[in-house]
Amino acid sequence: MSNQAQPFEADQPVQDEEAGDQLAPIEAGEAQLQASLAARPVPRISIQAFCEDASTAEAIQFASEDRRLSKAHVSIHMGGGSAAVAHYQESPTPNLIVIESLMDRDAMLFELDQLAECCDAGTKVIVIGHVNDVVLYRELLRRGVSEYVVAPVQPIAFMEAVSNLYNDPDSEPVGHVIAFVGAKGGVGSSTICHNVAWTISEAMKSNVVIVDLDLAFGTTGLDFNQDPVQGISEALATPERLDDQLLDRLLTKCSENLSIFAAPVVLDRDYDISADACEMVIDVVRQNVPYVVVDLPHGWSAWTKRVLLQADEIVVTAAPDLANLRNAKNVFDLLKQSRSNDVLPHLVLNTVNMPKRPEISVAEFCQGLDVKASGVIEFDSETFGVAANNGQMLEELNRKAKAIPTMHELSMKLTHCNEGKMVQTPQKSALAPLLEKFKLTR
Ligand SMILES: Nc1ncnc2c1ncn2[C@@H]1O[C@H](COP(=O)(O)OP(=O)(O)O)[C@@H](O)[C@H]1O
Ligand SMILES: [Mg+2]
Repeated sequence: MSNQAQPFEADQPVQDEEAGDQLAPIEAGEAQLQASLAARPVPRISIQAFCEDASTAEAIQFASEDRRLSKAHVSIHMGGGSAAVAHYQESPTPNLIVIESLMDRDAMLFELDQLAECCDAGTKVIVIGHVNDVVLYRELLRRGVSEYVVAPVQPIAFMEAVSNLYNDPDSEPVGHVIAFVGAKGGVGSSTICHNVAWTISEAMKSNVVIVDLDLAFGTTGLDFNQDPVQGISEALATPERLDDQLLDRLLTKCSENLSIFAAPVVLDRDYDISADACEMVIDVVRQNVPYVVVDLPHGWSAWTKRVLLQADEIVVTAAPDLANLRNAKNVFDLLKQSRSNDVLPHLVLNTVNMPKRPEISVAEFCQGLDVKASGVIEFDSETFGVAANNGQMLEELNRKAKAIPTMHELSMKLTHCNEGKMVQTPQKSALAPLLEKFKLTR
């Protein structure tokens, strides 16, 4: 075995065909879905992996392209533990070292002891081994190894292991981001976004912040009958200043569990949103609430694309016509390709059965996209029109409105919880002091 670190070439062939199969994008199998949900974004750390097996290197390479590792800098080398020991005798160690070992217990521990001698304080180590051995596992933990993963390693399992090291398992997980976008303008994306956010906050008693990124024309303030602080533009202008206190000042509270980060909706300025600023703002919000619901305007720019690619869940709302189908297909194709470790975006067909309008049927629309619709909402100008004009949610206006069950089902799908369960297990108060401030001051 060479003890020189060889860089891993991502496109080198995988020798073992079975191992190659393990790298297929996930098809929302239950175990993988759970692992995918458990893996949370990892901060800006450096990760250096020293693999023995090409399939392990490829799995790590695949994981490193995932949105949750997008901030981390991952480099992959071949040569295993001996290459790592040789390398770190001359170079500083990164935040996280991943060592694959083909050795038995004693040889592996001996090599890790050598590595420990050249490891800087604060560096964490994950070991990937080929033996399933509890004694070995205990010995590794005793030596300060953070995690032992038995090969063959799946990209999603690797990501979960890394994520667990950087997200405190004792506190609530970092908030989930749910992004809503329309396949065309005016298809009801914002209306559905606001109603779903409201349902999560009311029926599930979970804290939600709506981030309205339609800066010039957003309707969040109107829909909740609020005259909001124009918070979001200040946050986007100086995202590095945004902390818990400032966020608290910039949010407008609509109810006990729902706050909005409202758009300024004035035209006296240009809105050039930077993708980085947008990501920073959403990151701060997600540290403070379990659900961040992002209302995106219809459009395509660097920042809208970034928000979609980074979101935990995506809802694409479309009306049943040809242009919507074409646009939705483009959006789905891009998202499927770039987010292969994630569940598919959700399709909602809205304004279905509008009188006198020729429509593409729901079945044909879904067939065109090769997905099932997560919701189908009929055209109902009376209910939607009155709710919009009153600044009310549909359910506040009429609990029997036909769209209500769909809003509830969508809320459950997006949060992966059922309503009863969430009501009985309220969010831990440890999450953030900010949650306390959300309680209405009467
Ligand atoms: N199912 C529906 N039936 C009738 N009107 C609807 C329906 N869904 C949305 N609307 C109305 O369509 C208009 C545009 O909705 P909006 O949510 O602002 O669209 P988008 O955010 O996609 O531009 C609003 O006046 C809204 O009340
Ligand atoms: Mg909108």
